[in-house]
Amino acid sequence: MTTGKDRVLIFDTTMRDGEQSPGASMTLREKIDLAQLLEEMKVDICEAGFAAASEGDFECVRSIAENAKEMVICSLARSTLSDIDKAGEAIKKAKRPRIHTFISTSPVHMKHKLRMGENAVLEAIGASVSRARQHVDDVEWSPEDATRTDWDFLCRAIDTAIASGATTINIPDTVGYSHPAEYGALIRRLIETIPNSDKVVWSTHCHNDLGMAVANSLAGVINGARQVECAINGMGERAGNAALEEVVMALKVRGDSMPFETAIDSQKLSRASKMVSQITGFPVQYNKAIVGKNAFAHESGIHRDGMLKNNQTYEIMDPEDVGVPSTSLILGKLSGRNAFRDKLQALGYELEQDPLNDAFRRFKALADKKKHVFDEDIIALVDDQLTGAQERIKVASLKVMAGTAGPQTAEIELEIDGEIHAAQSQGNGPVDAVFNAIRAITQHEARLQLYQVHAVTEGTDAQATVSVRLAEDGLVSTGKASDPDTLVASARAYCHALSKLEVRKRKRIAA
Ligand code: KIV
Ligand code: ZN
Repeated sequence: MTTGKDRVLIFDTTMRDGEQSPGASMTLREKIDLAQLLEEMKVDICEAGFAAASEGDFECVRSIAENAKEMVICSLARSTLSDIDKAGEAIKKAKRPRIHTFISTSPVHMKHKLRMGENAVLEAIGASVSRARQHVDDVEWSPEDATRTDWDFLCRAIDTAIASGATTINIPDTVGYSHPAEYGALIRRLIETIPNSDKVVWSTHCHNDLGMAVANSLAGVINGARQVECAINGMGERAGNAALEEVVMALKVRGDSMPFETAIDSQKLSRASKMVSQITGFPVQYNKAIVGKNAFAHESGIHRDGMLKNNQTYEIMDPEDVGVPSTSLILGKLSGRNAFRDKLQALGYELEQDPLNDAFRRFKALADKKKHVFDEDIIALVDDQLTGAQERIKVASLKVMAGTAGPQTAEIELEIDGEIHAAQSQGNGPVDAVFNAIRAITQHEARLQLYQVHAVTEGTDAQATVSVRLAEDGLVSTGKASDPDTLVASARAYCHALSKLEVRKRKRIAA
């Protein structure tokens, strides 16, 4: 059935531009899981990384390319031939490979960053795009800082890229400086001016420094762009990129005045948001559009009253459309295995027999401590189990003495590669004591950059989700864990971050 709407391609850059957010790095396993979810969600193009950045990045792009089915897998590359060859090598096993190459075109970038004149930049564009075409038929080219580029030079640069074989032209608002009327007009004018503009797909890539990334992207679409580059939860450099979930839902909900459609299965948006938050340790703002905890909550009496009479009074979209079940069946200690499995399925989890058994056991233990087990509890529990399974350092037992009398003391047993190690430490408060005890066993130099606690649900019996970010020698890793006991969650989150950091250190040495 044709809807008569123009199709807009969704290009997800959570694993490339998103990972450039300070502290948001992801492991290979996490990227593979995320890529799988993006594929299920029907993302058109996944920018899996920047293959030439490091051996780790190369390996991530290569593995994702190997596992992808229908989704186009893309690697970013600067305009050097060696970068492009690395990208080509990393994506060569993808069923649908793409190379995305870029160079700065604005006067400020050319002068201070590249130290290149216009002719040299044009030459680099021709050489890089032609080289990329030797690897693949699908080549995207971006003039970095396009929105601050001189108009004539921008046209010459794009002409050169198209003449050299680019098939998608992406117009980055790299510093988030543009506004919707201006960005939309830029896209329109380029399409009207550039010869052969109908032979390429025009794409938006908007940063959110002034909070206008989504609005700018939509203005680009209204004016002829048919690809939007965006990231889950708006992850990305500085203030981030256009948020994928917001772009998708804006086009879906306002199809009346924006006659465009994407292929995205919007019911997976909430899950994708939670997964990215879980992996990176970046919490989602409560009032964030589409995926924030309060996006469908109604507090004031007037609003609640209206909602009870007819939900269209205050809701412009159905929570179920973004994967938030509206009538959330609460589970408790009498809930059986089937109810639990049905709930997992409704929340988008398909677990094999063993992990399902483990999850059910953990659910029963939680239900013993907590009267009502909400959807958020189950999501936290399963996500925690999936990450915990990959950890090398595990918390075997923990005992903490806290209170006004002091000194706060922690006794911990860690299981490392199957062996139990024990330590006791004091600290400036119970969390400090726990972390000192872990440090006494693991003897590492990592610095604690972030410690964050969130209650998964309301009430004093709520599970706590703790995020810990550690940094050592330029490497950063984030760990996350959930438990009704905040100190247990803290210890496990610390061990999770430490396990990830160790993997990164080993990879660096190997490289
Ligand atoms: O913001 C930007 O300009 C980029 C390019 C590499 C596309 O991320
Ligand atoms: Zn960017």
